[in-house]
Amino acid sequence: MTEVAMQGPVVVLGGGLAAVSFAGGLRSGGFGGEIVCVSDEAEPPYDRPPLSKEFQREGAADKIRLDLSRAHDVQWLRGTPASKVDTQRREVLLADGRSLGYRTLVFATGATPRRLPALQGAPMPVITLRTLDDAQRIRAGLTAGARLVVIGGGVIGLELAATAQGLGAQATVIEALDRVMNRCASATLAAVVAQSHRERGVDLRLGRQVTGFDGHAILLDDGTHVDADLVVVGIGVVANDALARAADIACDDGIFVDRFGRTTCPGVYAIGDVTRQRNPISERFERIETWSNAQNQGLAVARTLLDPTVTPYADIPWYWSDQYDLRIQVAGVSMGDDEIVRGDASPGSKFSLIQLHRGRVVGVTCMNNVREFSSLKRLLGDVALPDRAALADPGTDLRKLLAAPRT
Ligand code: FAD
Ligand code: APR
Repeated sequence: MTEVAMQGPVVVLGGGLAAVSFAGGLRSGGFGGEIVCVSDEAEPPYDRPPLSKEFQREGAADKIRLDLSRAHDVQWLRGTPASKVDTQRREVLLADGRSLGYRTLVFATGATPRRLPALQGAPMPVITLRTLDDAQRIRAGLTAGARLVVIGGGVIGLELAATAQGLGAQATVIEALDRVMNRCASATLAAVVAQSHRERGVDLRLGRQVTGFDGHAILLDDGTHVDADLVVVGIGVVANDALARAADIACDDGIFVDRFGRTTCPGVYAIGDVTRQRNPISERFERIETWSNAQNQGLAVARTLLDPTVTPYADIPWYWSDQYDLRIQVAGVSMGDDEIVRGDASPGSKFSLIQLHRGRVVGVTCMNNVREFSSLKRLLGDVALPDRAALADPGTDLRKLLAAPRT
């Protein structure tokens, strides 16, 4: 019997996708012991990706609830922040004064948006986007003609700008760097995305920072200003690892875990956005802030807890982003020293990109090319690259090309 199968309870901190996936994985694997999920949010678990997309258009909270059918017989403590972890006594203290003993503890505490001190005290709503409550407040301000200023040209900011334009609002995006999506897109993709936004009327200001505000005007570092009815700040997230740090578990903006989700403290695991894990492509310890990681790492750690002989987690990171009618899919890492362009990498076209580093495929990107994505993902880490000209030709049948013997 494994540690988790022998003795409960299993206490999970967090009530997002990683927590639900983990609890579901334990139950599907036959675990019959006690599972307690402690969430500081009062809301039943919900999916975050729609918050910047469908939810803004439809406002239907019931459509974004996570399916809890696999995670049955879980005791949910909602609206209850955990405030301390005592790893000696194997106990979690809750903010309401209660304490919970655990045999196995799992951090699934996610991440929190960074804030922008320069806008503290501004008269218009200044909102970060992580929770359903944030999304509801943003939705209330996204009326036709509303002037939305988005700070940060990452995935959240650009998705929201796209949604806002669709709702008849006027979006301005202020990005500090000279390109968008720096964390997670190649320069080629970033240029196409930026152009696509401009073509749809977004006022995209690259290489600009906010210095403050004057009434409803947001002041920028080039001396210009932008009038705003609503400001959304999307300048990245930091891991919710404070409780783990205070318990002397190794962290660095994220809780370090191995492929079994183990932290540096026996009996304590971590999953999802809060983790810092080895990226199988870059081979560096990174935070992988994606829906698929929260889902699959949660599931995999549950499986390995029940059966340590199961292959540990080493999924290739990938994410999608929807902006207007653009479906962007990216796997691996988007930086490299070389790139193969398959198709016409320009706004309005469908194309794929293959990033290489020292001859090895490290990243693949598909723009409105959903059918190619899973085939291209198979190239990741491959040293024997198929014929380059054939790969670049969108007319080549990828399945045949990848199945052909290579030198
Ligand atoms: P979270 O979902 O953040 O859950 C953590 C939970 O723990 C939260 O409820 C938090 O309040 C709670 N918590 C924290 N501290 C405590 C504590 N001390 N006590 C109790 N509870 C605590 N990914 C994609 O791949 N594609 C997308 O298109 C995409 N779109 C996104 C759009 C938005 C607006 C957002 C916000 C995210 C998006 N993502 C997307 C990312 C994806 O949603 C996240 O990677 C995923 O939700 C992470 O899940 P998690 O369970 O690890 O963390
Ligand atoms: N002013 C303007 N732009 C800034 C500033 C600043 N002071 N600081 C950072 N930025 C820019 C970064 O250069 C980057 O382009 O904000 C962008 C942040 O992009 P991401 O790191 O992608 O973060 P964000 O878009 O906020 O998404 C946060 O939500 O969808 C999830 O998986 C996603 O976990 C991620 C999270």
